[in-house]
Amino acid sequence: MCGVARNVRFTEWDVAEGITVPYGGLPPYHRFQMTYDFSLAGLDDIPGILALQEMNLPDSGGILSVRLTPDWFKDAILEKSVIVGRCESKVVGYVVGSSLAASAHVPIIQAMLRVFPPAPGCYLYGPICVAETERGKGLASAMFGELRARLSGRPAILFIRADNASSLQAHRKMGMQELGTFTNNGVLYVALTYTS
Ligand SMILES: CC(C)(COP(=O)(O)OP(=O)(O)OC[C@H]1O[C@@H](n2cnc3c(N)ncnc32)[C@H](O)[C@@H]1OP(=O)(O)O)[C@@H](O)C(=O)NCCC(=O)NCCS
Repeated sequence: MCGVARNVRFTEWDVAEGITVPYGGLPPYHRFQMTYDFSLAGLDDIPGILALQEMNLPDSGGILSVRLTPDWFKDAILEKSVIVGRCESKVVGYVVGSSLAASAHVPIIQAMLRVFPPAPGCYLYGPICVAETERGKGLASAMFGELRARLSGRPAILFIRADNASSLQAHRKMGMQELGTFTNNGVLYVALTYTS
């Protein structure tokens, strides 16, 4: 089990360091070690990224807007544009920070850029996705921190579906600022920017 270092209260049977123990076998509070790692994605991460993407597309009840192909991820990884979060070698999150040119053919990107022309040097942030079991633990913020360190000083532009409250909240908390709204295929989106 991966966890961000914090005190966790055991209320029932739980797992610590790979061993299942009954409540009472450990003190009620137990400190987990930080066991996620965040780094540039490698080509070996593509299957994990695609699996996570698939689970979060509308066909599977998710909210991601665009299905990106294996070749698109391959190119993005070779351009060092993808950060992954892993837990015990399994991909549990990814975020892309790519050139606007790489997504110039994507209709939703075109729709956003028509309304909100990008600042010079701007990169496109997203998509971002965290495995459902790992949400709310700060992974999105941690992956953005890693991305920002690599693209320091450059402004970012991104969009979030207007009804994706958790993503809007997560990105506001990261310091992203709302530019306004636009529509694509009748769906309302919020455009945001990040300037360091
Ligand atoms: C959006 C997403 C990437 C956020 O990832 P995450 O790792 O859970 O985000 P974080 O843990 O860094 O969250 C930081 C803040 O976001 C807010 N937040 C996260 N989940 C939330 C939820 N379900 N409801 C409301 N706010 C939420 C909180 O303010 C949280 O800070 P707090 O825990 O200190 O209150 C993740 O929910 C996800 O992958 N969703 C499915 C795919 C998706 O929507 N991608 C984004 C498309 S634009």
